[in-house]
Amino acid sequence: MQSLLQNASEILRENDLGTYTVPTHGLYPFQWNWDSCLTALGQAYFDEERAWREIETLFAHQWEDGMVPHIIFHKEDDGYFPGPDVWSTGRDVPTSGITQPAVAGFAIKRLFDRAKDRELADAKARALLPKVKAWHDWFFANRDPQGTGLVAILHPWESGRDNSVDWDAAFERVPTDGVLPFIRRDLQHADADHRPTQAQYERYIWLVQLFRSLDWDNSKLHDASPFQVVDPGFNGILLRSCMDLADLADALGEVEVAESSRAQAGKGIAAMDTLWSDARGQYLCQDRVLGELIDSPSVGGLLAAFAQIPSERAATIAARITTIAEQVNYLVPSHDPASSDYDGKRYWRGPAWLIVNYMISDGLSRAGQTAVAQRIAQSSVKLIEQSGFAEYYDPKSGEPCGGTRFTWTAAMVIEFISQTQLE
Ligand code: DGY
Repeated sequence: MQSLLQNASEILRENDLGTYTVPTHGLYPFQWNWDSCLTALGQAYFDEERAWREIETLFAHQWEDGMVPHIIFHKEDDGYFPGPDVWSTGRDVPTSGITQPAVAGFAIKRLFDRAKDRELADAKARALLPKVKAWHDWFFANRDPQGTGLVAILHPWESGRDNSVDWDAAFERVPTDGVLPFIRRDLQHADADHRPTQAQYERYIWLVQLFRSLDWDNSKLHDASPFQVVDPGFNGILLRSCMDLADLADALGEVEVAESSRAQAGKGIAAMDTLWSDARGQYLCQDRVLGELIDSPSVGGLLAAFAQIPSERAATIAARITTIAEQVNYLVPSHDPASSDYDGKRYWRGPAWLIVNYMISDGLSRAGQTAVAQRIAQSSVKLIEQSGFAEYYDPKSGEPCGGTRFTWTAAMVIEFISQTQLE
């Protein structure tokens, strides 16, 4: 375990560019939103100040309307597509124009709770609190205009689960005409069989071009987008962050932030039940344009357990993961292996990801499902021992896929080993 911890720390340091950390050199040469927040948890083990700075840097690029972009293009690098010229968001330091899972509220609460340097933690958390709250408020104002309690993603990249089977049907509504010619750079760094397809990339870019034509005006994007999906995993992360922000605000004596955040979490958790499927034993995405559930058994519906869902839902999700475990050697596949759409090497259509494992395990553990939580943690560490610090893994063979020497995988290994009583 000691050598794993040492290797993980080395990877964090090697990908650290001073004020932010790249997910991996080459494939992802900038700062990514949820990568940074989860990375900070690993950094805190050897440098709390550095961990806070990772999240501060991200929030230094928050938009005036409250949105926190999914990529900050701190410096030029033509090894990535789509770069700043494609997004064209008109910012001094260029950023993308869409967002990513709102894990910052959870991350700062965790840094705060564990901090050895209490004075530093108090000052940093106090400064970040209103910024994270503004981001949450932005979500509910702009991505839930009807006030349902749940937010929609408008682009698959927002979910973080870029090419999940969940989006396939809704993506049929996204055309590709008018997409300007482009050269993908990801295929220079990673195996094409592990990445999204060309057809998916054309649709990704069509949506970017649509939003750009609306001058990235977030008051217009939701209704204009032919792709509006309510993802239980994405909402689970946001609602967990709302609840954690409420608790953090209580600790800091910020009563209004606490009350408002708790109300957001409560309303969202109640609404989450509209996404539950008894037949699948998990939550499902909803296609907001059609007003229908999407019958796709992906890990998004298990990841919802990161939020404070009802205990009977958590128990059913734990049972479902136990069933899934019979079909794979490593938990948790990003799509049901029994489905004909399952592809064990292709990004979010089957592979296991350590960050998802960490969040599911954390949520199930809080819900009292400790045996399955522990099993996920053990499986995660075994995977890294056998296959190294990759971006994601084939859940049957354990083959490492995507990028190598991956930052958030390293951070999660540190978390799993330090926080869990692994046998
Ligand atoms: C990519 O480029 O693959 C990212 O996931 C988009 O954020």
